[in-house]
Amino acid sequence: MARFTLPRDLYHGPGALEALKSFKGERAILCVGGSSMKRNGFLDKAVGYLKEAGMEVELFEGIEADPSVETVMRGAEAMMKFQPDWVVAMGGGSPIDAAKAMWIKYEYPDITFEEMCKIFGIPALRNKARFCAISSTSGTATEVTAFSIITDYSKGIKYPIADFEITPDVAIVDPALAETMPKKLAAHTGMDAMTHSVEAYVSAAHCDYTDPLALHSIKMIQNELVKSYHGDMASRESMHNAQCLAGMAFSNALLGIVHSMAHKTGAAFADCGAHIIHGAANAMYLPKVIAFNAKNADAAKRYAAIADFMGLGGESDQEKVQLLIAYLRKMNDELNIPQCIKNYGPDSFPCENGFVPENTFLERLHDIAVHAIGDACTGSNPRQPSADEMEKLLKCCYYDTEVDF
Ligand SMILES: NC(=O)c1ccc[n+]([C@@H]2O[C@H](COP(=O)([O-])OP(=O)(O)OC[C@H]3O[C@@H](n4cnc5c(N)ncnc54)[C@H](O)[C@@H]3O)[C@@H](O)[C@H]2O)c1
Ligand SMILES: [Zn+2]
Repeated sequence: MARFTLPRDLYHGPGALEALKSFKGERAILCVGGSSMKRNGFLDKAVGYLKEAGMEVELFEGIEADPSVETVMRGAEAMMKFQPDWVVAMGGGSPIDAAKAMWIKYEYPDITFEEMCKIFGIPALRNKARFCAISSTSGTATEVTAFSIITDYSKGIKYPIADFEITPDVAIVDPALAETMPKKLAAHTGMDAMTHSVEAYVSAAHCDYTDPLALHSIKMIQNELVKSYHGDMASRESMHNAQCLAGMAFSNALLGIVHSMAHKTGAAFADCGAHIIHGAANAMYLPKVIAFNAKNADAAKRYAAIADFMGLGGESDQEKVQLLIAYLRKMNDELNIPQCIKNYGPDSFPCENGFVPENTFLERLHDIAVHAIGDACTGSNPRQPSADEMEKLLKCCYYDTEVDF
């Protein structure tokens, strides 16, 4: 038996934020990140709509990018004091993910972070509150997914919390919120979404319900991402929908080792000044992982089907796989994203000598590979890497060398 779970309601298109006016409840806690939602007036609008719905509203502000366990615990305390019956999270993946974890702790005050990280081990939620997510970036699709990514900075590791219990009750996908994204954010989150669709399509857990969502979102991202990056707002709106479709696919089909590697490298070099942004990490690793997985004939067929759907041409499966890899690398170039960690420089732009020194990378390589193998996303990858292969793959991602194993 397999399960396919999505939010009960999804409001989308211009004006979707106004759906908040129709919520029924007494107290809503509104969780947001830094200042982008406030600066652009969306925070005031959301508070106004919730008040119009007759609710008392409290804010939990300042959730940082790549939220920490400490922030989750602070937010849960605020919830325990205020006793909301709605948790509303607005912003990028970071504040929404943090609010999901706060919600678990609010419902179960005794649960530890380690217990939350047991895959599909979250007890039944919704005894105290329901959850609404309003996304402002076009990538993580956390507004529709069963995932939350929290960073343990003492270990330098990102941990996924995964359970359909944390799939939001309501998702709001309003394109106005995505319009204010700076170019770089549109590029990174867009390639995150592309990685979600591609990994979901080839995942060992893919099914008839997830395949159409994955393929359609790949095609939309192919057509719209670069235009959205250059400021075309119609494309920006399409990307906001495309990333959400990708999320519906991967929340139910799961992901693969591109994400395992992104989770375990993201914070691993923070002391070198190199926080490898999630979407940029995925964009760099995806072509390498495709080359690795495509050594498996069944996986190669699935990548070839993607290439066909994108209209890339080619005769044999292997030729189609190469065309897909070349296309994704071209997208990275067009979006000003480096092709490898060695060239990952200031502001995440490509440069000759990036943040992560070779000796530091090599020193930490073994541990990162072990952690990546143990990541929750590895199990659904179509080809299971050994620890040795994972090290070799990570090296290809560092040096941008060919994957010939
Ligand atoms: N839960 C999931 O299923 C899932 C999937 C993939 C990634 N993630 C996680 O999500 C996090 C990344 O989320 P993200 O990429 O959405 O970015 P983010 O939430 O970390 O935000 C990045 C920056 O962009 C700003 N910002 C957000 N929206 C904006 C807007 N519309 N206009 C201007 N500025 C804006 C924020 O204030 C912040 O400074 C990572 O921690 C990643 O691991 C989660
Ligand atoms: Zn992702």
